[in-house]
Amino acid sequence: MPEKTDMNKDIARTLLSQEQLVVRIAELGAQLSEDYEGKDVILVCILKGAVHFFSDLSRRMTCHLEMDFMAISSYGNSARKTSGIVRIAKDMDSSITGRHVLIVEDIMDSGLTLKHLTSLLESRQPASLKICCLLDKPERRECDIAPDYVGFTIPNEFVLGYGLDYDGYYRNVPYVGIMDPATPAHTREG
Ligand code: IMP
Ligand code: MG
Repeated sequence: MPEKTDMNKDIARTLLSQEQLVVRIAELGAQLSEDYEGKDVILVCILKGAVHFFSDLSRRMTCHLEMDFMAISSYGNSARKTSGIVRIAKDMDSSITGRHVLIVEDIMDSGLTLKHLTSLLESRQPASLKICCLLDKPERRECDIAPDYVGFTIPNEFVLGYGLDYDGYYRNVPYVGIMDPATPAHTREG
């Protein structure tokens, strides 16, 4: 367990406040409702990071949709960087063949995770496959991929909260913050 009990002490500054998140997610929800109106859409939450975004975004969408969940893990990833080699820890329950699929993810960083995931899902022949990310760090991209919908484009800083973790912690912080680099409390080993 981290030593400090107040998670906010490990956060150097707020990047996106709860108010900013609410406003932008409402805008995205309205846009998606328009774009997916009348379509057989399945919204796929990528666990665990997208949990809050998925929950808030889906409730801002007014079109009919089905929800599904996938959990993926990267081989050999450190707390800060993914290896990009994806293992499906939990697959979705529904078939996506011929359906409009919208992947809901927390952040696109190197892009490697979503590159692997989209090529896997494309092989199941959906009618369309798009990506909606809350956050995009385009400076970090290591492959040719971009989200179709983005909440916020952010600078190259490690962020926490609103689903995003460091070593499994901080997902319950209700805003998006920048981790305090001087604080060792977030590592389980100390
Ligand atoms: P990518 O494959 O490099 O695009 O990484 C995607 C995954 O890395 C995300 O789903 C997050 O779990 C994690 N990640 C990337 N950047 C951050 C960050 O700034 N904070 C927390 N997690 C991050
Ligand atoms: Mg993570």
